[in-house]
Amino acid sequence: MVIEDSCESLGSEYKGIKAGNGAFSHGAVFAFYPNKQITTGEGGMIVTDDDRIARLCRSMSSQGRGEAGVWLSHERLGYNYRMDELSAALGVAQMSRTEEIIAKRERAAAMYAERLARVPGVRLPYVAPEVTRMSWFVYVIRVGVDEPTPERQSAVRDHVMRRFQEVGIGCRPYFTPIHLQPFYRAEFGFKEGDFPVTEFAGRTSIAIPFHNHLTAEEIDYVAGVLERALGEVRQAGLRTQYPSGRERPIPPVIGAPTLGLMKKCCHRLL
Ligand SMILES: Cc1ncc(COP(=O)(O)O)c(C=O)c1O
Repeated sequence: MVIEDSCESLGSEYKGIKAGNGAFSHGAVFAFYPNKQITTGEGGMIVTDDDRIARLCRSMSSQGRGEAGVWLSHERLGYNYRMDELSAALGVAQMSRTEEIIAKRERAAAMYAERLARVPGVRLPYVAPEVTRMSWFVYVIRVGVDEPTPERQSAVRDHVMRRFQEVGIGCRPYFTPIHLQPFYRAEFGFKEGDFPVTEFAGRTSIAIPFHNHLTAEEIDYVAGVLERALGEVRQAGLRTQYPSGRERPIPPVIGAPTLGLMKKCCHRLL
């Protein structure tokens, strides 16, 4: 069985086919945490055209109650994953705005791409040609990628983040690789060096402010701080003189910023 993780891709299309529409999978999941394209506050949605899976999911999300809905008759192990009515009402209203929201995010991403193309030392997100519609979720740039050592790569990224934080621009390292999270280290014995490509992506990536209402002025402000920070890095002798421009075609670095990041971004930029 194939389940599509479409949590970050509401509205996106691969070769003209919408994410999660069943062409590639038996079912798909979408997430509606506040950082997503649309939100219900928390929670998400499973979509499937398989009646058996649909019945099973309904039962499991409601404490394993029987499919006939008989009161307090539990036929399997289940969970309390029901979406409450208030959240669902918000979701219905949000869903009707999906196209408008995706278009606004496309515009914000295009403005970033245009402005950041003029900043030496920044790699922009790569969108594969097979992606016929990109639904922007976060905007993740990479810095320090041409530095010769992991330490210097991290130093560039950390310097840029410090400069952002000093002026109140929300940003996050994006992501710390999962195998280096404390739980995975303790449970499975993973350590630095186990997945070098992932670690390289992890230590050179930053999620920068991204939301529906970013203006050209705000993007220019973020780009200006970034440009100055990378200028300082160059003066300090770290190598960032490679040409700016689009990332080479590796899978994009994706993920989810926290609500705190969103609040910070909005506070600073709205
Ligand atoms: C790709 C992907 N899968 C799964 C999830 C998990 O979603 P949730 O926290 O709503 O369970 C996320 C959340 O950001 C995600 O980005």
